[in-house]
Amino acid sequence: MLNFKKILIFIFLLQLISSCNSESESNKNLLRIPSLIDTMNEEKILLELRKGKHEFYPGVKSDTMGINSSYLGPTIKLHKETIAKIQFTNSLGESTTIHGHGLHVNGKVDGGPQQVIRPETTWQIEFPVAQEAGMSWYHPHLMGKTAQHVHAGLAGIYLIEDENSKSLQLPKTYGVNDIPLVIQDRSFLNGKMKPYSVTHEEMMEGLREDTLVVNGTVNAYHEVPQSWIRLRLLNGSNARFYRFYLSNQASFYKIATEGGFLNKPVAIQDITMAPGERNEVMLDLSNIETVHLMAEFLPADPDDQQFFMNWLNHKASVLELRTDKSIVGNGVLPEHLNTIKFYSGSDKSKAVVRKFSLEMDDDSEQVMDMHNMFTINGQSMDTNRIDERVKKGELEVWSITAEMMPHPFHIHGVSFQILTHQGEPPAEADRGWKDTVVVGEQPTEVIMKFNHEADDDTPYMYHCHILEHEDGGMMGQFTVQ
Ligand code: C2O
Ligand code: CU
Ligand code: CU
Repeated sequence: MLNFKKILIFIFLLQLISSCNSESESNKNLLRIPSLIDTMNEEKILLELRKGKHEFYPGVKSDTMGINSSYLGPTIKLHKETIAKIQFTNSLGESTTIHGHGLHVNGKVDGGPQQVIRPETTWQIEFPVAQEAGMSWYHPHLMGKTAQHVHAGLAGIYLIEDENSKSLQLPKTYGVNDIPLVIQDRSFLNGKMKPYSVTHEEMMEGLREDTLVVNGTVNAYHEVPQSWIRLRLLNGSNARFYRFYLSNQASFYKIATEGGFLNKPVAIQDITMAPGERNEVMLDLSNIETVHLMAEFLPADPDDQQFFMNWLNHKASVLELRTDKSIVGNGVLPEHLNTIKFYSGSDKSKAVVRKFSLEMDDDSEQVMDMHNMFTINGQSMDTNRIDERVKKGELEVWSITAEMMPHPFHIHGVSFQILTHQGEPPAEADRGWKDTVVVGEQPTEVIMKFNHEADDDTPYMYHCHILEHEDGGMMGQFTVQ
């Protein structure tokens, strides 16, 4: 659909592209690396949620929230078959929750909307690490407030290690050749981050802003060894989808999805990521001086994308990588990474099959009837209603469709495999353990077993990970018993 408004957006984007180009070379900032806390060295991990003043642009302070920090939180390293103890203290002056997105833990420690951490109180969790090596993350999940709290800066990474990840000859020096990247979009006015607010249209499309922020850094660069490096990518944006690629058009390798390693590295030219998704990629920089990890900003409506024909979409550097021969970095790209056994379509006959349909209602120009604007199977989220009851250890196939635009569907407490992705077989690079998948009009089928419990008081959630949709009610609750 071509209309006047879209033409205006188009002109605005063109201006943006030219302004970015002139600005970017001069004001580069060293990439921030979240501090690392290893559960091996700590009896109990103490985290404090607090308000912050964060300098995205040097010398200009923005009002933010962070965890032991002014913006975002530390990376927490967990080890399979050990017990993790974490204590969250809420010094925000308002209630929130902290959910472990991607963790295979019981509902009681999952941190969903029921597990409110009131101001000036602490919430302590203890759980056995029961999953293979991968990258999860933590963020608030308070009903109606998730988008705002994440936007302010409340999020951090969990890295899970196991025997396999320790024995693989991968790059593993944190921050040097094993680099976490929390990628978000924000708006700035004279260097100050614009506080969270959404119009009706932004609520519908999800809040999409114009400036890339990586680990709380704008215009980021990083100095890296002139060898293999490993990037752990998290799309921590509220709503924006990106297509990442390298400025020299070189191919690179995908080695992991959300829930663990792929069986083998897959060579790719680019990678598209929706909010909530994580991927690990490896880059060979042995003959490179400088290269940029680039992001193309994908529009909410793929029809727009066709209209703008890709090359007109806003593009920006996520991170400039400058190699330095004096930095030591070991690690190579292994040939084999994992031993995932794949389910097949025939396993569906042994499974409990459930259908989910994500819907949104765009007719309300007048008064927003927020209550039924975002639904799953015709109902908006209600914390007093359990939507599904799952039996622990049983095979489940969830078939998901969605309307109006692509939506990232996320399930708590589990990793799944994709059987069918929007009516097609999954791409080779998506044949791994995931917990978030982009769904559309053609059905997406995922298969999994839930091995942990969640009762009626602390159920698990499934929802759209566009945070405005989630807050608006595109979410449901289920128990596992
Ligand atoms: Cu990343 Cu239910 O959340
Ligand atoms: Cu989650
Ligand atoms: Cu959605």
